[in-house]
Amino acid sequence: MKNIIPKNFLWGGAIAANQCEGAYLDDGKGLSPVDILPGGPKIRREALADVRKTMETDYGYYPSHISIDFFHRFKEDIALFKEMGFKCLRTSICWARVFPNGDDLEPNEEGLKFYDALIDELIKNNIEPVITINHFDTPLELTKKYGGWKNKKLIEFYTKYCEVLFKRYKGKVKYWMTFNEINMILHIPSFGGGLVFEEGENRKQVMYQGAHHQLVASAIATKIGHEIDSENKIGCMLAAGTVYPNTCNPRDILAAQDANRENYFFIDVQSRGEYPSYSKRMLKELGVSIEITEDEKKLLKENTVDYIGFSYYSSRLRSADPEVMKNIKSGNAFATIANPYLKESEWGWTIDPVGLRITMNELYDRYEKPLFIVENGLGAIDKVEEDGTINDDYRIDYLRQHIEQMKEGIKDGVDLIGYTPWGCIDLVSAGTGQMSKRYGFIYVDKDDNGEGTLKRFKKKSFDWYKNVIATNGDNL
Ligand code: BG6
Repeated sequence: MKNIIPKNFLWGGAIAANQCEGAYLDDGKGLSPVDILPGGPKIRREALADVRKTMETDYGYYPSHISIDFFHRFKEDIALFKEMGFKCLRTSICWARVFPNGDDLEPNEEGLKFYDALIDELIKNNIEPVITINHFDTPLELTKKYGGWKNKKLIEFYTKYCEVLFKRYKGKVKYWMTFNEINMILHIPSFGGGLVFEEGENRKQVMYQGAHHQLVASAIATKIGHEIDSENKIGCMLAAGTVYPNTCNPRDILAAQDANRENYFFIDVQSRGEYPSYSKRMLKELGVSIEITEDEKKLLKENTVDYIGFSYYSSRLRSADPEVMKNIKSGNAFATIANPYLKESEWGWTIDPVGLRITMNELYDRYEKPLFIVENGLGAIDKVEEDGTINDDYRIDYLRQHIEQMKEGIKDGVDLIGYTPWGCIDLVSAGTGQMSKRYGFIYVDKDDNGEGTLKRFKKKSFDWYKNVIATNGDNL
């Protein structure tokens, strides 16, 4: 399959401030949610589930505090991205670097200077910055003081933060995403929404009200982003991955449809500009009633996104049979039962390249807006050989199969603007806090206990991806 991918396609990679920068208190930065989280799958999961307890616990070692030290090494890393031929880099801005407490009256000039330098370095290297405004990074102070996104005041603080960014990076940054994986607020509410719950509170109510505040904030950001620079392209970002029915039993089909709607709900609002017709019954059955004003409805309607960014790691499987659902696998943000037709990663994530094509088609059929695959990849354990090489053929296989299906999706008619595999340089896993769950083309010498030189090494996939970009996806 040659000449499938459009010219000007945004090949690149994706990272996020909270998982790579480190320098967690430098230049006046305030705390981010990730700064109080430990590393290790089980302990991290527990910490994410009870943030109040986490705030009072001393875990000793915190992976985010130094992370991969991107804050000090970004020039070296960008040089490697350039060598691979990246056309773009997706990264995020840490809100607490810009407004350390979230509700500060003035932005922190020192924090902004870091992003000035980072964005200038990308532009100097002809790498288009693609910026996520909030990637699991609502300042911790906003959780302590306001309970996170359940409080409407956060819309105001976020708007102010966005305004600073749009003005400062006008003419430099064109591609923005308002919230990373906006649907994650339902799955990891502490990360996605900085939420803490009170005793006896209806959690669904709090999560959906928080989601509504984010949706309104996203619409306002889209509005001011367009007003400040009409060239701006403002996107949403969905943790995607179609949910399949476990069997052809209509009840399973319905269960899968419900699960898909739970995700599309967010993008239906961000892209179509209103709460979808099915949401009335869905919310009622959950015991949720969202407070929404006429002004907000107008804002949502008039300020829809320009493109649909999404992450894709795997498809999911749903059954209507509670007995079957007892086999649900825990450990991932999106619970699923095992699909007997598919293999899994070392971390139990289903590997389903065809699912990428299915997901692309579903999203494009539904929204008819350009799509951008802003995350995809395989978290795996890499072995450094005695001669220093890292032969990550499994990663190459995974990406090759996904890019093949991405090309099929384009042939199906999807308007796809770019592909940025996740963790193009190894970084700290969001879900587990591990370094050993590696996604990168570039290996970073650091382990799960924080030991290591932080030196960067090219993996075998580095040259492979370089060639993929150089041939615009023809040679896989
Ligand atoms: C996405 C997030 O959910 O998945 C990233 O946007 C995250 O922040 C990625 O790192 C992979 O998940 P994990 O848990 O393997 O880091």
